[in-house]
Amino acid sequence: MRSRLLFVVGVAASCGTPGNQPTPFREPPVLTDINPDPNVVEVQLVAAQAMVEYLPGKPTEVWAYRDGARADSVATVPGPLLRAKQGDEVVVHLQNDLPEATTIHWHGLRVMNEADGTPSTQRLIEPGETFVYRFKANDAGSFWYHPHVRGDVQIERGLYAPLVVTGEPVVEVTAERYLVLDDVLLESDGKLSDATKEHKEHGRLGNVWLVNGQPNSTLKVAAGSRERWRFVNAANSRFFNLRLDGAQMLVIGSDGGLIAEPYKVDTLLIVPGERYEVLVTFAGTRAVLETLAYDRGDHDSSRPQKLLTIESTSEVAAPLAPVPSRLRDVPLLAPIDGNTPVRPIVLSDGKDHGDETAFFINHEHEPKIRVKQGGIEIWEVQNEAEMDHPFHLHGMFFEVLPGKDGKAPLPGGWKDMVNVPRKSSVRFAVHYEPLGTWMFHCHILEHSENGMMGELIIE
Ligand code: C2O
Ligand code: CU
Repeated sequence: MRSRLLFVVGVAASCGTPGNQPTPFREPPVLTDINPDPNVVEVQLVAAQAMVEYLPGKPTEVWAYRDGARADSVATVPGPLLRAKQGDEVVVHLQNDLPEATTIHWHGLRVMNEADGTPSTQRLIEPGETFVYRFKANDAGSFWYHPHVRGDVQIERGLYAPLVVTGEPVVEVTAERYLVLDDVLLESDGKLSDATKEHKEHGRLGNVWLVNGQPNSTLKVAAGSRERWRFVNAANSRFFNLRLDGAQMLVIGSDGGLIAEPYKVDTLLIVPGERYEVLVTFAGTRAVLETLAYDRGDHDSSRPQKLLTIESTSEVAAPLAPVPSRLRDVPLLAPIDGNTPVRPIVLSDGKDHGDETAFFINHEHEPKIRVKQGGIEIWEVQNEAEMDHPFHLHGMFFEVLPGKDGKAPLPGGWKDMVNVPRKSSVRFAVHYEPLGTWMFHCHILEHSENGMMGELIIE
């Protein structure tokens, strides 16, 4: 109760207006393309220490990205949006002005191994150094980028940003937005808590919920509009269980772009690292986006947290064609049959030397799996732990299969993230196409950084 009161007072003070002035919804800035070639997107990114205000009037020291092509750019959390169209060449000059080494991983993009941005694919970028990433935007969809070094600390401090690849078919909408979800653990003076270490078991949970770096903003839309929202969960460990009261949500895409057929939802679970694309239709004058408690083994009984208020203006949106019942054909990447080999992957936790909580894959830290290029396998990911683990594979998409009980998964299309609920298993089919060393890990960052990460080596 007290924190809410403080927050309202803070808003009024920083706006300089009396009363309860809403904070307008903020879009992440877009990176400047410095290359005149229409098929090349070339950007300059700077990672540095910066100050932001998650809570008005209470500056927070963060690590954040800014647009290096503009002298007047300020670092933001989330960082600037990288926008490309399908087929573009992307060149990113990253300048590391942080006090420690970093890299960038282009989460979800199917890139060549040397651009994947992990310590298995490149030398770390030391403070003061610049590194150039080159890759092709092969797939249209909603992605994001973040470091792959000390992720629990670097992403927590603010180094993450959205990445959009546009492509066909175009879904007709009034507006498109990226909503980057996060939570942060703030001290009463606005400082980021240093408590990550103490939160190893379930990952670090925050006390302030953010959409595009803002705790409780208000979005104005024209009455009757239909918008395309791209969600990414960039939190260390928070599961977002979204409900949109006062408007309708139609899922049209996930990690690997548009799905075949849209489907309606009342609530939508988005685990760390995962993306969903949703068409939102506003019929009334006001809607509220909130996240509901979700028990992932941490006995979450929190009350619904309001994330965003949507209010319609007196303007009326231009009418749109109905949403097609079929969006696209999603090619099958990994066709399986009765002879497809099944690879068991076991997720578990336990104690390490010194009695520290630690996390394992196949009962080891950082196992290596060697496979031949061109093979197709079914990964059966068995979660032996008492908590859910959101599982991520780099470099390729997989297709989630019906479970051992025959239960069909949600129509997710191409995925690079899947939640593996506690004491259960998830199966997916994967085609070993790209050569190189690809990480797979839990996207609860305190888990991946404490052993729940491995390497898939395709040779
Ligand atoms: Cu977004 Cu290896 O992760
Ligand atoms: Cu985990």
